[in-house]
Amino acid sequence: MNKSIAVIKGDGIGPEIVNEAIKVIDKIAEKYNHTFQYQDILMGGASIDVHGVPLTDEAIDIAKNSDAVLLGSIGGDTNTSPWYKLEPSLRPEAGLLKIRKELSLFANLRPAYLYDELKDACPLKPELIEGGFDMMIMRELTGGLYFGDRETKEINGQMVAHDNLVYSEEEIRRIAKRGFDIAKKRRKKVTSVDKANVLDTSRLWRKIVNEVAVDYPEIELEHMLVDNCAMQLVRNPQQFDVILTENMFGDILSDEASMVTGSIGMLSSASLRDDTFGMYEPSHGSAPDIAGQNKANPIATILSSAMMLRYSFDMDEEATAIEKAIEKVLQAGYRTIDIMSEGNELVSCSEMGDEIVKCL
Ligand code: IPM
Ligand code: MG
Repeated sequence: MNKSIAVIKGDGIGPEIVNEAIKVIDKIAEKYNHTFQYQDILMGGASIDVHGVPLTDEAIDIAKNSDAVLLGSIGGDTNTSPWYKLEPSLRPEAGLLKIRKELSLFANLRPAYLYDELKDACPLKPELIEGGFDMMIMRELTGGLYFGDRETKEINGQMVAHDNLVYSEEEIRRIAKRGFDIAKKRRKKVTSVDKANVLDTSRLWRKIVNEVAVDYPEIELEHMLVDNCAMQLVRNPQQFDVILTENMFGDILSDEASMVTGSIGMLSSASLRDDTFGMYEPSHGSAPDIAGQNKANPIATILSSAMMLRYSFDMDEEATAIEKAIEKVLQAGYRTIDIMSEGNELVSCSEMGDEIVKCL
């Protein structure tokens, strides 16, 4: 198969981790006889430095005309980077939000899975993770607080800010359907997470999710308040299969879930729309503190590229091969610093990529 991939290496550790993912998919191309064509585009700080804006229309067009987008990470240190002296709509993150919206990537899938080999890196007590866990966080990605109008202004002599949280029925329905469809292929349980004891958007969320559930009688549905969910994730992560939630809650809960897998360096993500097109990126940020040191864990990005093969290119066997190679490398004891524990071998970002390629 011949596929075109728009590549956004991004800022911080982005270029390092994307290079390792490309090594891995090049190996897949060779082994399974595919051709992947890459076209680099700029986004975030790297785009600000060249074009003065975090994402150009040309870059969006290239992304739109490709079969999928592979993204490293964007952004810098919010305390020290000059990018954060710019007005908010010109900062790196605005590029990420714009591309999500422009490409209509409303469904964000973030799988959190505990590898047996990483049980030592998990901060929870052994008895809490005995049976492991395997959940899929389905985060709505183009609505809610991230895209409502916002403003900071002076009222009666003091500064006042607001951010508007809006969801329409249709926005909730399409992500809920995706969540139930995914649960069908998994353990058939959906936990819909909201704050329906306070928020109107959450009450609407619950109502629409209940309506969608009628078409999925084989799926067990439960509703959980977001504060309780944050607690349950560290109390009993095994109870979760699909967590279905709105944009902001999904952002926060996915960071929490990633930590119980051992490291945020392990959590991949896919952002999808209605067809097979998608954008694939690790769930973590650009880690400017370790950028350029060849220390970052490339596994989340490599796992994201496996998701790209599976969801956008329908290459299930190839995706599974990457996932199995990662397991083998972890079994062999290779660890980047974030998942290092006693008795294992510390490797750099590029060595981790090389070891995964060797196992393919
Ligand atoms: C994520 C990130 C982004 C988000 C930031 C960088 C805007 O935290 O993908 O989880 O909040 O969506
Ligand atoms: Mg986040």
